[in-house]
Amino acid sequence: MGRLDGKVALITGAARGQGRAHALTLAREGADIIGVDIAADLDSVPYGLATGEELAATAAQVEELDRRALFLRADVRRQDQLDDAVARGLSEFGRIDILCANAGIYSQANFWEMSDQTWQDMIDVNLTGIWRTAKAVAPHMIENRRGVMVLTSSVNGFRPGYQLSHYVAAKHGVIGLMRNFAVELAPYDVRCNAVCPGAIDTVMINNPPIYERFSGNPDGTREEAIESVRHFHLLHGRSMLPPETVSNGILWLVSDEAEHVTGVALPLDAGHMALDGYNPAPTK
Ligand SMILES: NC(=O)c1ccc[n+]([C@@H]2O[C@H](COP(=O)([O-])OP(=O)(O)OC[C@H]3O[C@@H](n4cnc5c(N)ncnc54)[C@H](O)[C@@H]3O)[C@@H](O)[C@H]2O)c1
Repeated sequence: MGRLDGKVALITGAARGQGRAHALTLAREGADIIGVDIAADLDSVPYGLATGEELAATAAQVEELDRRALFLRADVRRQDQLDDAVARGLSEFGRIDILCANAGIYSQANFWEMSDQTWQDMIDVNLTGIWRTAKAVAPHMIENRRGVMVLTSSVNGFRPGYQLSHYVAAKHGVIGLMRNFAVELAPYDVRCNAVCPGAIDTVMINNPPIYERFSGNPDGTREEAIESVRHFHLLHGRSMLPPETVSNGILWLVSDEAEHVTGVALPLDAGHMALDGYNPAPTK
């Protein structure tokens, strides 16, 4: 008996990283998975996004768990592609019980130097994309008076970050969306919560600009980044956390164990949010 037997989950950004971990975690508990991902790069993002091969590999891993998998290319900036994914999912599986709005991008620039494209891509994917995804799924959940959404924010949904005005604005906005969706969906017994990951060990934080950010060294390495991230978390001995850190929080939020939980922004961050403030560039 799985905790999600008979349920169907739609996950965005499902090809790799946290999205893949969510797909496998929910499938292991009995859910069938509709996975969508852009599986293509964006010019303003300084690392490669997922590939078609990764999308297919995640689908195969779900099927190896004896669950059904419908994995599609869709861009969360495109309402027609999301609506189509929902329609195909409903025609194949007949229901959608769970939404994980997880797809996201990351880039860095001082706000006074940021290009319009970098700002707009961030807002379109990380904020408007969440609204579009929820919009595509909500009518089905409302009609059935059943469902749960989990929106992926970040500790940057509460905290600022150097050269992250666009990311921070989007992730704060996701918490606002979550609270409002929770209010608007409650009359239909549909719940909505957010997860706020700390530093999670995925491609998003394993690329040269991030190694430089974490190490303070233009030729920074993963090893240096791992050492530096130890300062990011409160719990002893933690550096970049495994993606399952977030999947396990999501599993609880979407399970019946959390049937009375809505409107919550849950940090999954090894205590980052409980840390004292720290100024990395103190005045001399
Ligand atoms: N890794 C971290 O430290 C961290 C921390 C806090 C929050 N997050 C958030 O977690 C979520 C997952 O990120 P991750 O760490 O797994 O990174 P990742 O880059 O491995 O995964 C993100 C996925 O989203 C997909 N994607 C990007 N733009 C898309 C679009 N327009 N439409 C559809 N799919 C798109 C990518 O192809 C990729 O598969 C993101 O929302 C991210 O902001 C990550």
